[in-house]
Amino acid sequence: MDYLPDDKRYQSMRYNRVGASGVRLPAVSLGLWHNFGDVDVFANGRTIARRAFDLGITHFDLANNYGPSPGSAEETFGAIMKKDFHPFRDEMIISSKAGYLMWPGPYGEWGSRKYLVASCDQSLKRMGLQYVDIFYSHRPDPDTPLEETMGALDFIVRSGRALYAGISSYSAEQTAQAVKILKDLGTPCLIHQPSYNLFNRWIEDGLTTQLRKDKVGCIVFSPLAQGQLSSKYLNCIPEGSRASKHTSLNADTITPERVARIRKLNDIAKARGQSLAQMAVAWTLRDPVVTSSLIGASKVAHVEEAVAAVSNIAFSAAELAAIEAALK
Ligand SMILES: NC(=O)c1ccc[n+]([C@@H]2O[C@H](COP(=O)([O-])OP(=O)(O)OC[C@H]3O[C@@H](n4cnc5c(N)ncnc54)[C@H](OP(=O)(O)O)[C@@H]3O)[C@@H](O)[C@H]2O)c1
Repeated sequence: MDYLPDDKRYQSMRYNRVGASGVRLPAVSLGLWHNFGDVDVFANGRTIARRAFDLGITHFDLANNYGPSPGSAEETFGAIMKKDFHPFRDEMIISSKAGYLMWPGPYGEWGSRKYLVASCDQSLKRMGLQYVDIFYSHRPDPDTPLEETMGALDFIVRSGRALYAGISSYSAEQTAQAVKILKDLGTPCLIHQPSYNLFNRWIEDGLTTQLRKDKVGCIVFSPLAQGQLSSKYLNCIPEGSRASKHTSLNADTITPERVARIRKLNDIAKARGQSLAQMAVAWTLRDPVVTSSLIGASKVAHVEEAVAAVSNIAFSAAELAAIEAALK
């Protein structure tokens, strides 16, 4: 049966302006790093993506290497576009990136113009799209002049392959330089995509100040620290969880000390009337410099839980102090 999205999909989601640009992103966005590869069950990914759109999530984040196998998450998303989402393309912000290893030889990773342009073309083909809304340099390249990498983003936008340019995991200093180069080229940097969650607060040390100053948006990835900031690991490492799969989240990270902190945070969340996952998402959104919290999900319920967090992103001084104490 044809997919018909919920007509109430725009009623409860918040849409935050991305820096000084004309576009807004949903407070919660969905990333397809895990659970959409060719090793995963297609029907599950499809149901998650459809539910996300039904709940007002208009932004889907991809990268050339998402899978496994690398490239297969874009193929999965392309199949969902074809089956379900194609009539709604103009209601969506779809992003992709290049930076990590995609193909052998000297042109298959990092930040050269050669790699970025070829990779963007490959991503468009896999997703069956004419353009992506945002194309990112996925990581800074210490060996390629920043002018070349930013010049490639400018070209990708000017040639119609992408509407906006973004950078991911650039330091505050690299961001200031990249933003300046892009501005001079006439293609402003729309957004930065850094990691950020209760256990990983590096962006507070200069990057958010820079983004505020430059009026660049900020979409933070892994707000749940890959699931650690949920009730999932309170008692054990459940079978099938990300930590049990030994891929991007090492089970050794879930130490007794970490679990003790998670328990304390869980109590604070309960007192706020939220689940820990909800408080973790809400916490990343407490500072308006953060445009969107970019979650992952292996189940529809994960998306529903995160979206429900948006109705309470305010924290009292006492709650913030209790969180700081729990993290000590
Ligand atoms: N730019 C970059 O370099 C970069 C790097 C990493 C990620 N990203 C982007 O950020 C997106 C999100 O990253 P992420 O997947 O690490 O985000 P995350 O939201 O921190 O973790 C998502 C995982 O946590 C678990 N989970 C989510 N909600 C839960 C709940 N309510 N209860 C229990 N477990 C729950 C699920 O894992 P299990 O159920 O499988 O355990 C889910 O797949 C990626 O898809 C990608 O788009 C970007």
